[in-house]
Amino acid sequence: MFSSPPKTVFCILIFMCSINGRRHTTTPITVKVYIGPTRRTTLEKMAIKFCCFPKDPLEDTTAWSESIDKLLGCKSGQLAFQEFLRSEYSEENILFWLACEDYKKIKSTPEMIISANRIYSEFVQVEAPRQINIDCGTRANITKNISQPNLNSFDTAQRLIYSLMARDCYPRFLKSEVYQRILTKANNS
Ligand SMILES: *[C@@H]1O[C@H](CO)[C@@H](O)[C@H](O)[C@H]1NC(C)=O
Ligand SMILES: *[C@@H]1O[C@H](CO)[C@@H](O)[C@H](O)[C@H]1NC(C)=O
Repeated sequence: MFSSPPKTVFCILIFMCSINGRRHTTTPITVKVYIGPTRRTTLEKMAIKFCCFPKDPLEDTTAWSESIDKLLGCKSGQLAFQEFLRSEYSEENILFWLACEDYKKIKSTPEMIISANRIYSEFVQVEAPRQINIDCGTRANITKNISQPNLNSFDTAQRLIYSLMARDCYPRFLKSEVYQRILTKANNS
């Protein structure tokens, strides 16, 4: 019998800091750890706690260029895209999209109402701190219904922002220094 070869644990450490009482993530730091199968399980369990993901970085990061779905389908891809959008001052797009993804999974009505209002005041309303770029008809529809939100309240807006990211930001991401640096790192490992 022989043990399986050491697997790469692709690890993203997110450092939180507080700015005006809000949680902010700084640039994710990528750390690769090589460990054997027994210790791997323990480490993977620990890693999840710290937002680390056991993944093959080579396979993973090259797949990001196949489609925006592949990129947004994993936490490390979301973080890389977020870092890129931050550099373009359009981070609100991914933050809104992620907020909508979480919103749609909400199970309780009180939580849904609180969350809908938070998303509305952070991203949707005119002069919101992270106001997203949607047409005024869509914005008006959300505003009309914000007092009686449902799980589909942000669907139209989320779709619009998704196509905006897919059309405008994603092609630039693929050519960006952020993504090229990640690819180079993966190739050198
Ligand atoms: C706003 O809501 C109405 C009624 O549901 C719908 O017919 C219309 O297409 C919506 N407008 C936009 C821009 O989504
Ligand atoms: C507004 O809310 C009503 C009642 O919940 C719902 O039937 C309608 O589809 C909603 N409209 C929009 C644009 O979300």
